[in-house]
Amino acid sequence: MTAIATTRPTDRQAIARDLEEARSRTLQLLSPLSDQDLRAQHDPLMSPMLWDLGHIAHFEELWLTRNLEGPIEFVEMPGLYNPFEHPRSERGKLRLPDLAYCREVMAEIRQRVLARLAVADFDSGNPLLRDGYVYRMVLQHEYQHNETILQTLQLKQGAPYTPAERFAVPESQVSRLDVGAMVLYRGGPADIGTEDRSAAYDNERGRHSVQLAPFWIDVHPVTNAQYERFIDAGGYTNPTFWSEAGWAWLEQSDATAPKYWSRLDGRWVSRSMDQTGPVAPDHPVCHVCYYEAEAFARFVGKRLPTESEWEAAASWDPVTGTKRTYPWGEEPPTRHHGNLDQLSFGTAPVGAYPENISPVGCSGMIGDVWEWTSSDFQPYPGFESFPYKEYSEVFFGSDYKVLRGGSWATRPGAIRNTFRNWDYPIRRQIFSGFRCASDA
Ligand SMILES: [Fe+2]
Repeated sequence: MTAIATTRPTDRQAIARDLEEARSRTLQLLSPLSDQDLRAQHDPLMSPMLWDLGHIAHFEELWLTRNLEGPIEFVEMPGLYNPFEHPRSERGKLRLPDLAYCREVMAEIRQRVLARLAVADFDSGNPLLRDGYVYRMVLQHEYQHNETILQTLQLKQGAPYTPAERFAVPESQVSRLDVGAMVLYRGGPADIGTEDRSAAYDNERGRHSVQLAPFWIDVHPVTNAQYERFIDAGGYTNPTFWSEAGWAWLEQSDATAPKYWSRLDGRWVSRSMDQTGPVAPDHPVCHVCYYEAEAFARFVGKRLPTESEWEAAASWDPVTGTKRTYPWGEEPPTRHHGNLDQLSFGTAPVGAYPENISPVGCSGMIGDVWEWTSSDFQPYPGFESFPYKEYSEVFFGSDYKVLRGGSWATRPGAIRNTFRNWDYPIRRQIFSGFRCASDA
């Protein structure tokens, strides 16, 4: 498999640049916030952002200094910033150092990390350093916490968050949106997962062949307009569309629409950060939980894709029998490829990125919204935990559903066709939407 970086994965200067760039983005996201905002627990689901910041730094220290000195101990970080010692809902009670001190600690750790990087021996046989993996793991960790922070910023109490910098998203390039259009995936063998060891997480390995039955899959993610029809048709009051677990969630949540939607003068409005306006009909629906996605699919006589179907539709070229790292090919994502990298601070119309097309003709599989699949988060055949079981292994099982494709809030270095995200089926503070599939 081709690595995601165009530079050599062990290029020290490139790694140092990427570390610097990741940090400047993290600090940019937090720059409009007061100390009080940083310290507050805005929602029981999310950490205080000051905790995220300290955690990012201590994770980096753990893996890029301490664990590089053999023998390797794959331990999680101790103390204040250990996520397993302190559940999210209780992190607001921790005595967190203030921002100025936290930034001093971050800078001091970074100095030691760069000094260690300068003498890192990528050929030493240390599995963490092989192909520069541990550096890309730490980078992705920071990128992923950026997305977590953005979930918190969207949930934020008090005045809505106003970004320091924002990009406009392009118009849709689809002249007449054929809502609900599907493409046929003809089935047959497809390769799922990867053997990449420079960036991919353990749960993305190993690359293995699956045999897929023919299926149809939506060209675009489900849009707000499509979803409104489900609401208008009594979707939230009719148990026939819902699974038993889904209906139980609905009854206790009292949801009547996606999170952040509200009714104003007889129409739906939604809020994205500091911008509130009429629900944009041609944008993908966002902030729905798995059960809502499942109910919508049942309403239109479809189903959610399995994660193998999703990955095959995003990556596999059945004509040539080859696999792409991204829907469009091997080129790492730029702003032209899709709605990624946070600074749009919201979704774009479907079809706005003409290059974001997979070999079989699915559009927008990377970026905009994470897409729910029907699959539980399970290990691939031959799975081996690396380098620590608390990233993936402890979450395997039927409690979590897999999401694919990244969102507008995902940094390009933390997404690819094989990337697997997972969450509880009731979660909707995440930037989650979906597309449907059906048997052919
Ligand atoms: Fe973390």
